[in-house]
Amino acid sequence: MSKIIIAIDGFSSTGKSTVAKQLAKNLNYIYVDTGAMYRAVAYFALENNLIGDGFFKEDDLVNRLEDIRITFKFNETAGFAEVYLNGENIEAAIRTLKISKYVSPVATLSAVRRKLVEQQQLMGKDKGIVMDGRDIGTVVFPEAELKIFMTASAETRAKRRYKELTDCGHELSYEDVLENVTTRDHIDSTREDSPLVKAEDAIEIDNSDLTIEEQLDTIVGLAEALISK
Ligand code: DC
Repeated sequence: MSKIIIAIDGFSSTGKSTVAKQLAKNLNYIYVDTGAMYRAVAYFALENNLIGDGFFKEDDLVNRLEDIRITFKFNETAGFAEVYLNGENIEAAIRTLKISKYVSPVATLSAVRRKLVEQQQLMGKDKGIVMDGRDIGTVVFPEAELKIFMTASAETRAKRRYKELTDCGHELSYEDVLENVTTRDHIDSTREDSPLVKAEDAIEIDNSDLTIEEQLDTIVGLAEALISK
């Protein structure tokens, strides 16, 4: 049995992390949510007044990257690793529409990407990892044995995200969520550094009409075939 790297990329709110988390559990692999790392940097920028309505002090953020330490710690109750910024658990704080609004501009900065990609590559050096994001199969692990590219219509994704956020007690409109999803799609796929594109050797899964179990069945099947080689 060999250990492999599984890269799961795709547009925002395609349910990548739900499937990736479950997949890692089934295979007894480590799961890394790289979106949480970019969200952590956006959280730091907001907390330190480096980004806000109508301004973004890009150079100041780049100069402070050394002050940002992102770690993950497994939470037994939640069943997955939560993200920490300089020792503070920010797992819940980064899942807001406000962070979603500022994270894409932050993720366009090459210095931010370099720092996070380096950490991600270290986390995957022993393989046995499921990593989800936008550039995992193209930039972080171009040699990953299994690459999945998840898609679904913007409306389907916004509906899912709206339900997720309102279920957690956030008050917001469906229109605002849809607007955020489409704006992020645009920024993520048109940025200069590591834009969101499907890797040539990635397997595309449109999950608009698939249950989580159906998606898992497909991906676990693909992974097991590779692992048992
Ligand atoms: O997966 P997510 O919605 O939590 O990601 C938040 C943002 O982070 C997303 O809009 C783009 C950015 N991101 C990225 O640029 N590269 C990654 N590997 C993961 C996320």
